[in-house]
Amino acid sequence: MVYLRFVQAELKNNLKRGEIMKKLALLGGAGGIGQPLGLLLKNSLPQGWHLSLYDIAPVTPGVAKDLSHIPTPVSCDGFAGEDPSEALKDADIVLITAGVARKPGMDRADLFKINAGIIKNLIEKVATVCPDAFVGIITNPVNTTVAIAAEVLKKHGVYNKAKLFGVTTLDVIRSKTFIGELKGKNPADLDVTVIGGHSGVTILPLLSQVKGVEFSDEEIASLTHRIQNAGTEVVEAKAGGGSATLSMAEAACRFANAIVKGMNGEDSTLCAYVEGGSPHARFFAQPVKVGPEGVTDVLDYGALSDFEKKTLEEMLETLQGNVSKGEEFVNNQ
Ligand SMILES: NC(=O)c1ccc[n+]([C@@H]2O[C@H](COP(=O)([O-])OP(=O)(O)OC[C@H]3O[C@@H](n4cnc5c(N)ncnc54)[C@H](O)[C@@H]3O)[C@@H](O)[C@H]2O)c1
Repeated sequence: MVYLRFVQAELKNNLKRGEIMKKLALLGGAGGIGQPLGLLLKNSLPQGWHLSLYDIAPVTPGVAKDLSHIPTPVSCDGFAGEDPSEALKDADIVLITAGVARKPGMDRADLFKINAGIIKNLIEKVATVCPDAFVGIITNPVNTTVAIAAEVLKKHGVYNKAKLFGVTTLDVIRSKTFIGELKGKNPADLDVTVIGGHSGVTILPLLSQVKGVEFSDEEIASLTHRIQNAGTEVVEAKAGGGSATLSMAEAACRFANAIVKGMNGEDSTLCAYVEGGSPHARFFAQPVKVGPEGVTDVLDYGALSDFEKKTLEEMLETLQGNVSKGEEFVNNQ
């Protein structure tokens, strides 16, 4: 309690001095993704940002204290317990990784029972404490948790589709890595668009559009399969110890910094799962341009190969079902 008061006083002083202009709240900040993500954000957010961690785990203020000793111009604090309100107060961006992760033999849909309720409760707080914030949802199953978030925000009369994102950046960075490995290229030089959703068959990397590399039909099929199942590769390799955390933290950090760039009026385009008027599903991952008020343009993802057209067609029933499940979870209660 004393520590909390100290942090709050320090925050107020900084605000008075005009040193804090923007705030990012990370819900699930003490978890497998949350901790390395906090570290990456502490080291990459621009000067003047404040990072607020929240988690039900009692260690959370300590994680923030630990981060606060790193000499960067980003301040931080941390809150534990049942109420995320202090972390959410005045937040410009909210990232949510709170929830449970997969174990071997589970798919993302198995997480629904627990994570749906967690997202609903946390978004209710977002709706009342910081309704204008950009919200990035990492908690799985993303195809469904984003729909839950949208419906909760709608019920509170504060839904702005331009500011709600499912974070699919991990699918993009995995695609770059695997193509680089296969073709002997530096993955950082590769640009890959990934559309659809964020689970198994709904993940569709547009390999036919990757510049500077050629693939055989067999390579396209096996690479697409590998990208779609890359999460399971990690879950199995961790043998019951969780799912992707470090690569996910990197992905979420890239996502957050792309949003920050857009908020600052700089040119920023990224692939994300948004409600963007797609003819395929209410929510669809595609390239979007982000500005200070959220998504400004949903970009055309270009021409698809026959393989991609077929894969897209085949995913739609699953994706639409995932979205309906989230809508029903909120509206049938
Ligand atoms: N979008 C993606 O690409 C992607 C990739 C990997 C993992 N994930 C998902 O991210 C989520 C987190 O994964 P992880 O490996 O960090 O799990 P983890 O179990 O290590 O951490 C989750 C954290 O959430 C906290 N938590 C649980 N309920 C909470 C609540 N109500 N409020 C606040 N905090 C709460 C826990 O205390 C824990 O610290 C999982 O749902 C996982 O499936 C998404």
